Amino acid sequence: MAGRKSERWATRMGVMLAVAGSAIGLGAFLRFPTQAAQHGGGAFLIPYFVALLLLGLPLMWMEWALGRMGGVWGHHTLPGIFDAVTRARWGKYLGVLGLFIPFIIVVYYLYVESWTLGYAFLAATGEFANQNTATVNGLHTQYLGVRDGSALSWSLAGVIFLLLTLAINFWVICRGAAAGIEKFSRIAMPLLFLLAIILMVRVLTLPRAVATPFEGLDFLWTPDISALTNPTVWLAAVGQVFFTLSIGLGAIITYASYLRKDDDVALSGLTSASLNTMAGVIMGATIAIPAAVVFFGAAATMRYAEGGSFSLGFFALPLVFNEMASGALVGALWFLLLFFAGLTASVSLLRPILAFFQDELGWTRGKAASVLGALVAAYLVPLVLLTGKGVLDDMDFWAVQIFLPVGALIEIIIFAWLLGMKHGWEAITAGARLRVPVVVKYVLQYVAPLLLLALLGSWLFVPDDPKTGALSAAAKMMMLDGVAEANKPYLIFCRVLMGVTLLALLLLLRRAWRRKLDQPAMAPHIAAAEAAVDAPGHIMEEITPALFDAGRPDRA
Ligand code: TRP
Repeated sequence: MAGRKSERWATRMGVMLAVAGSAIGLGAFLRFPTQAAQHGGGAFLIPYFVALLLLGLPLMWMEWALGRMGGVWGHHTLPGIFDAVTRARWGKYLGVLGLFIPFIIVVYYLYVESWTLGYAFLAATGEFANQNTATVNGLHTQYLGVRDGSALSWSLAGVIFLLLTLAINFWVICRGAAAGIEKFSRIAMPLLFLLAIILMVRVLTLPRAVATPFEGLDFLWTPDISALTNPTVWLAAVGQVFFTLSIGLGAIITYASYLRKDDDVALSGLTSASLNTMAGVIMGATIAIPAAVVFFGAAATMRYAEGGSFSLGFFALPLVFNEMASGALVGALWFLLLFFAGLTASVSLLRPILAFFQDELGWTRGKAASVLGALVAAYLVPLVLLTGKGVLDDMDFWAVQIFLPVGALIEIIIFAWLLGMKHGWEAITAGARLRVPVVVKYVLQYVAPLLLLALLGSWLFVPDDPKTGALSAAAKMMMLDGVAEANKPYLIFCRVLMGVTLLALLLLLRRAWRRKLDQPAMAPHIAAAEAAVDAPGHIMEEITPALFDAGRPDRA
């Protein structure tokens, strides 16, 4: 515990890069285009931008502020912060979402991340050159060793790259906050953007195959107003905004908790949100979707997108590289950079859980990392063996479209209502190098929670299609409506597994707090956090300076 308090970001640039690195990843480059295509292209963008402005940005600022505040109280994860703010026994249990959601996401995220590494290898060995529109889909299933029916799926290459990905991830987190992550982001991010621009130009100048690149752009940018009443499309857009900005589960909170109390959070939040939106909307969508439409046509693009939440890029891009000079090299570099982007993101998903193990259970970093690594690896076994049976996409659906909005809603209620928007607003604006518009205050207090409630409510209760029946989208989802009969047992298995995980984490939380109460050394710490929450007036100033300054290194 005490040892962790001295951990601070070495430079302000470092934390910004790390947060941007957490945000910019497979979400923008792979998940965004696939989601947009799945929901009909033009139907997706309006909800996406509305969600970005009314939920994404305000919540991003809120998480920065809450995290910085939590760090000042000595907490780096949601259970601790919620416990401190609510001062109720149930507070910490709500914080379980800050462990549960990142765990579920990181498991399948690491798997997809390993595909990018594998594809870098396939590109480098010239494998893409043999592909055309008819075979490129098969390349994916072959790489993953997908088998239909009840046969288990796996391939040697798929497993090797997955193990490599796991090893690299845990190596990075074992090296500490500042050193490990910063170095990676600094080189990989600008390179990735540069290459994305090159790819964008190449895609937009592709010769006509099934369609032209401009028909691809049309598919995405022509708004479809009729879809705006569909709660599933809205939740998909909200989930994607949260996923891409890394909000809703406390990952930013953990990073921000290593800030100093007078460090800027407003400008940093805005910078990383804009960089990431640019990456997703302009690059992710201007590369993957138009390319897919050119090679496969709009209808097949939507079909491919439905087959896997992250897969559109894996089908479309190898064909783009075949149209380029030195395609093998460029393709390898692209997937390698995408791997680095994914790495900085997956590391940020692992970190809250790791911080929880260290802070609240008192484990050493080595022990925390080993236990987490073992758990992740154990979960990956069924996930890999069931590839192609829709398990990954079901996990992704629940985690991103349902749990992230629920997590965000709980965070807002605790921040804007329990802590109170008066304190909350001070926390957001303290040290800010950018004037956050006052309207954000009201958005956070009223608009955002009501919007989330309305969306989740209509997903749960409003009939999905009044003409054909009274079932809501949620009910259909829960009853596995539309899922192939053969895949149902696997999805049920994975949902039960998720339920058991949630339960186990709740028990772990209870144990962690029992342990803390037993430890007299914790008492002053808890008292300080409680005093900080009770402090009237300017919350950031009232916090015991001694607690904050303990172990504070000199500014670089
Ligand atoms: N934002 C990352 C991406 O787009 C994924 C991610 C990292 C994430 N940390 C997160 C998503 C925290 C939700 C919450 O690839």
